[in-house]
Amino acid sequence: MSRNSHVMPFASRIAGIGSAFPETSVSNSALAEKIANYGAETNDPWIVERTGIRERRFSQPGNEAERNSSLGYRAAIKAMEMAGIGPMDIDQIIYATCSPDTLVPSTACWLQSKLGAKRALAYDLNAACSGFVFGLSIADQAIQTGKAKHILLLGSEVLSPFLNWKDRQTCIIFGDGSGAAVISQCPSDSPSRILGHQIESDGTQWDLFYMPAGGSNQEVTAEVIEQSLNKMQMKGRDIFKFATRTLADNALKMVESQGLTLQDVDWMIPHQANLRILEAVAKRLDFPVEKVLVNVDRYANTSAATVPTAMDEAVRDGRIKKGQLLLLNVFGAGVTYGAALVRW
Ligand code: UT7
Repeated sequence: MSRNSHVMPFASRIAGIGSAFPETSVSNSALAEKIANYGAETNDPWIVERTGIRERRFSQPGNEAERNSSLGYRAAIKAMEMAGIGPMDIDQIIYATCSPDTLVPSTACWLQSKLGAKRALAYDLNAACSGFVFGLSIADQAIQTGKAKHILLLGSEVLSPFLNWKDRQTCIIFGDGSGAAVISQCPSDSPSRILGHQIESDGTQWDLFYMPAGGSNQEVTAEVIEQSLNKMQMKGRDIFKFATRTLADNALKMVESQGLTLQDVDWMIPHQANLRILEAVAKRLDFPVEKVLVNVDRYANTSAATVPTAMDEAVRDGRIKKGQLLLLNVFGAGVTYGAALVRW
């Protein structure tokens, strides 16, 4: 799906961004100790060399303040402060997540209630790790057509309850965290705006990454728990290859669709799953690796939260400057993938 080429009366821009993480940081060595209790073996040098991850944050089970919607609340408050809006200004809450507080109601509704955003239409969006860019695309279209003026978009996950501690390939690469953005209406010729987006899905590749039980397909029984079927399963090497190729293709298609080149891009903000994937993409595109924003080393893969949290960090520490061109670039379970070009 690409942005309509005919002229719309409005455009949208990212008016505010924020992030939040749980308190507890877990180093690779601490994780290795934890999974040893489940009969799995790993170590810090392997994780650092194969993924670039050094630590991640995990929500404490049962801690109300570290639920997905609670982290989302903290991230949202920061984004709204930056945008200069309050809860009653929000027309929609789009909550991109694959680790909702509850299957029903949606995490968007939990957040709506915490914020007191009574006017907002609130719903979840599951495009796994691609969720933030999918949400950005949907928000931009709702704003272009005049349906909304301010949309609160979350990319937010508490993945730790879905990790299989017996599977050392999977449990080492994920973490918990939350990113939020306020997408606001602006004139269609505004210099700071979302320039375009392209999102795609291919459901035939569902088996690259999935969770067999816990949905309506399969109830969580003692046998299911014993076999860890209610936990995430992935084909790591296949995803690695898919991700490298897809992120590179996304980037080229996105800039070309806007009549630009990669040289025009100031920062690439890719989904953070593995540092080696990011380095391979930069190399494949001959794109300077210093212009790729990275936070996977400190937070691991937080799925839909990786792009907004990496962006928030770089906005707040001054690396991202007004007028710069940002390329958001994602892939995820489904499979889903896509990119967006944003003038900050
Ligand atoms: O958004 C989420 C989507 N997921 C991803 O993007 C994940 C993409 N894939 C990856 O990041 C990598 O494939 C992994 C990090 C998951 C695995 O790294 P790899 O370099 O592809 O390792 P591998 O699966 O090819 O395994 C190499 C060796 C194997 O041992 P042998 O057979 O060579 O003796 C594994 O058993 O490394 C072993 N191994 C480990 N050793 C220590 C696998 N995981 C671990 C581990 N600690 N955690």
